Amino acid sequence: MLGKDLLGLYETSAEDITLILDTAVGMKKLLTQNLKKLPHLQGRTVTTLFYENSTRTRCSFELAAKYLGAGTVNISASSSSVQKGETLIDTGRTLDAMKNDVIVIRHPMGGAPRLLAKNVRASVINGGDGMNEHPTQALLDFYTMREKFGSFRGLKVAILGDIKHSRVAKSNLFGLTKLGAEVTMYSPATLMPQGIERMGAKIASSREEALRGANVVMGLRIQLERMHGGLFPSLSEYDKFYGVSKEHLKFADKDCIVMHPGPVNRGVEFTSDVIDGANSLINEQVLNGVAVRMALLFLLCKNKQGGNENNG
Ligand code: CP
Repeated sequence: MLGKDLLGLYETSAEDITLILDTAVGMKKLLTQNLKKLPHLQGRTVTTLFYENSTRTRCSFELAAKYLGAGTVNISASSSSVQKGETLIDTGRTLDAMKNDVIVIRHPMGGAPRLLAKNVRASVINGGDGMNEHPTQALLDFYTMREKFGSFRGLKVAILGDIKHSRVAKSNLFGLTKLGAEVTMYSPATLMPQGIERMGAKIASSREEALRGANVVMGLRIQLERMHGGLFPSLSEYDKFYGVSKEHLKFADKDCIVMHPGPVNRGVEFTSDVIDGANSLINEQVLNGVAVRMALLFLLCKNKQGGNENNG
């Protein structure tokens, strides 16, 4: 059973993942019928508390909450009392005092959402914490894969890019292995975290090996902002040896889907003909992100009988 918070997929069961995906099916139907004034979360308030930049995660949580009838508040660390020295816990307790129901947090430190969740009555959703997890990105990725292929059993997922700094890679790996998919990863050795095989990933020794027969080709952004040394010579050399072009896609299954959590570095992880090509579901991922986040907000609020005051 889903609990008060969603902090990561490491601790989330396959049953809970499936419940969220199943609930998102109905939400997507409503979205595609342009039904965007729904009563499910009437009287609830959802706050996005972002200490790092975001376009997709923040907007889609805000829209998901609004479409379901919730009130929304957006806090950027750069324009809040965090700048005056307020702690994360005090910020969370301030929101609790205002009867806020859900906090979606993005933070550069892994574990910050867990610390917040332990100290507030509101439900906490991890919108990405450092290099740790980004569970709702992985959930929308799973939704996109399941919509295309029907099931995860035996699905070959190739993940290429900056694995080391990627919270998306970790949440995908934790969830996909529970759901029965095979995950193969490929990156420069300097961008591959040690011990990732022990978490269930297969490491490919070449781009072609990673792509061969893949049903899903997922690219990950090179996160220059998290690199404090030269982990590879240059972006153009990255593209030459690790990037995926239409030619490389020929190694994958002919019906493969191309995915990327965004933002994409065009011409680095993927060439434009891959990003905009017939196999690409990158924009569909964004739509599915709203449906999945609607489902998650609905399920977490349903679990909280009577709202904020009855929790904790
Ligand atoms: N995929 C993702 O997390 O994108 P944003 O950084 O724009 O939220």
